[in-house]
Amino acid sequence: LHKPFVKIVEVGPRDGLQNEPTHVPTDVKIEFINKLSETGLQSIEVTSFVSPKWVPQMGDNTEVFTKIAKKPSISYPVLVPNVKGLEAAVSVGAKEIAVFASASEGFSRKNTNCSTQEGVNRIKEIVEKTKSLDSTLRIRGYISCVVGCPYDGYIQPKAVTTICESLLSLGCYEISLGDTIGVGTRSTMEKMIKDLLKITSADKLAIHCHDTYGQALVNICTALDLGIRVVDSSVSGLGGCPYAAGATGNVASEDLVYMLHGMGAETGVDLKKLISAGHFISEKIKKPTASRVNKAMYKK
Ligand code: HMG
Ligand code: MG
Repeated sequence: LHKPFVKIVEVGPRDGLQNEPTHVPTDVKIEFINKLSETGLQSIEVTSFVSPKWVPQMGDNTEVFTKIAKKPSISYPVLVPNVKGLEAAVSVGAKEIAVFASASEGFSRKNTNCSTQEGVNRIKEIVEKTKSLDSTLRIRGYISCVVGCPYDGYIQPKAVTTICESLLSLGCYEISLGDTIGVGTRSTMEKMIKDLLKITSADKLAIHCHDTYGQALVNICTALDLGIRVVDSSVSGLGGCPYAAGATGNVASEDLVYMLHGMGAETGVDLKKLISAGHFISEKIKKPTASRVNKAMYKK
């Protein structure tokens, strides 16, 4: 019987490292991404072209993007917040970008200094600009705070569905649903995704869980039950968001792969190689891994 395939979008080099207070040397980032490229992952978000005043850690975006050893079978998306970021990304040869909006007003202001509607308008400007710059560019959309916001509290599904509809109609090929501060539970996740499934199909959606409250794997299972087959994660459980205080990293890629393989799903990812990439970056940033599977399985 054909095993279900779940695609993993590795966001460690971007979402994971963006919150590191001390600068991670560029050559470490490059070696880290090159190790991830050897694991069988199909998509690795490698950096962001945001304002270096806002996120200094990503200020070496051009060098990282141009110096990594790219494999033709892997997509290397970069995060962009505005036309300036788009132009920089295209000039270094990015083939895929990720744009981001928030379902909550409070987080939109803190993260991008604009309202949710202005955020959608910025994405519209980005999309318009791609038509003249590179019409083949693939655009992935993120929505943050899909169930809860550090400033506004609980977020109604309707707010997410409205933004999702806009981003899909602008031409995003997929929308990744960000539980930015990891407050979601099986029931809030289910309610939110079911509302989205009234306006789109599960193959247009991905799930992006931070693990602050230890609910990420359960919430991912909820998304899988509802037909979602693309999951974002960070090796070693790296990261957090600089504009969501206390938010921890994404679900650890090693824990996700272990769970998926245990459920009989295919990911194409070699768990041992992933564990070794996770170990590499944890040592370099001098932080113990947040991946339980890495702790249990790592062998020197
Ligand atoms: P602003 O200060 O309102 O904008 O920032 P501005 O246009 O006035 O620009 C300020 C300065 O930044 C200017 O420089 C611009 O040129 C420069 P100055 O004139 O002062 O010398 N600038 C740029 N430089 C390089 N690249 C650019 C760029 N844009 C402006 N692209 C802005 C508005 C959106 C730029 C800012 O708020 C920003 O960069 N925000 C990004 C914050 C961020 O990266 N957050 C983390 C990523 S999102 C996330 O983690 C959530 C996610 O994982 C999903 C989830 O978990 O929910 C995706
Ligand atoms: Mg995130």
